[in-house]
Formats: sequence, C-alpha cells, structure tokens
Amino acid sequence: MKSVQSMLGIKDNIDQILYSKEEIAQAVKRVGEEITRDYAETVTSTGRKPLMIGILKGSFMFMADLVREIDLACKVEFMAAKSYGQGTVSSGFVQIVKDVETMIEGRDVIVVEDILDTGNTLNELCALLRARRPNSLKVCVFLDKRGTRKIPFEADYVCFEIENEFVVGYGLDYAERYRNLPDLRILKQ
Ligand code: PRP
Repeated sequence: MKSVQSMLGIKDNIDQILYSKEEIAQAVKRVGEEITRDYAETVTSTGRKPLMIGILKGSFMFMADLVREIDLACKVEFMAAKSYGQGTVSSGFVQIVKDVETMIEGRDVIVVEDILDTGNTLNELCALLRARRPNSLKVCVFLDKRGTRKIPFEADYVCFEIENEFVVGYGLDYAERYRNLPDLRILKQ
C-alpha cells in the first residue's frame, strides 16, 4: 500500500520537518498541563467547566490532542472562520462560516487556534466573543508567527513560536492539502 506521503506527492513540494510528532506531543502536553493548572481552582470552587472553542478547520488535530492533555471537565465547541484564499498570504478578510451552539455569557472560554499570524482572525473572533460577555476569554495557539503580525495580539498559551515560513501538516493546509500529515513541515515557496 502507498504511504500518505507518496499519495500526496509530498517529496516534490515539502522541505524539512520543522517539528516531529514527538516534539508536537511534548509541546501539547506542556500547554495542556498549563491550562489544567490555571483552571483547576475555578472548576473546583465554582463547578464551571472551561468552554474550549476550536476554530476550524486548522485546529481540529490540535484540539483533539489538547483536550486529552487537559485533566479537567471541559466543554468542546467549534467555530469556523476563513481568512486565506488559495494562496499563502493572508487576505485580511475574516468570514464566520460556523458559529458555536452554546451560550457564551458567564463562561470561561478558551479559543483554540492552529496559527496566529497577522492577528486578523483572532482579533475579530475575540471581539465577537467578548461582546457575548464571557466570564473570561483566553487564547491558545499551536503556532505563533510573531514576526508577521499586522494587529497587536498576544496569545495566552503557545506551543511553538515560528519564523515567517509557510508551514503545513498537523491540521494546517496549503490549498486544502497536507492537513493530515502528523508532523509540521515547511512548504517550499
Ligand atoms: C488560518 C488559521 C487562522 C488564521 C490565522 O485559517 O487557521 O484561523 O489563518 O491567520 P491570521 O492571524 O493572519 O488571521 P484559514 O483561513 O487558513 O482557514 P483553515 O483553518 O480552514 O485552514
């Protein structure tokens, strides 16, 4: 049987592995432990479960791994936003494609994203969520590309800070390809 990599034609388009499966698992575990530590007191004293909101599609793999590293009761929701077209540069346009099904008011919300790049998407999404009056709102990202920010934005939890390179795998795509790679790779420009 052909491997996923040969089916995707990855050898032609993909350069080196930036982070291996093992390195990713270690970073996700660390962030899961940070969240567990930060929210344990709230859950014990108030019974309020954190509401994890994964932003589709890029966060699906990170979200699945992250919630398994959080040792607390939590609720899982998804929203979908689109900010890129088929290319590798942000269009600066954010469109909400799918909304959450839960009331945000009074909840302790943790937004889970695959990548923080220009800041456009998270800036708009967080403004929208804040208007719904959560008790608290934090942001957890798998990747933080600090050098490409157009809007000042800080994430509360970060697995990796990366340089300005176009990365794919572990949920991240180029024109909808490569999302199912288990590691993170740099796409040849
Ligand atoms: C990507 C990523 C973030 C956003 C980050 O989404 O998932 O949502 O871009 O970029 P920004 O900080 O410059 O706004 P994309 O629109 O590619 O959708 P996807 O998650 O479905 O791949």
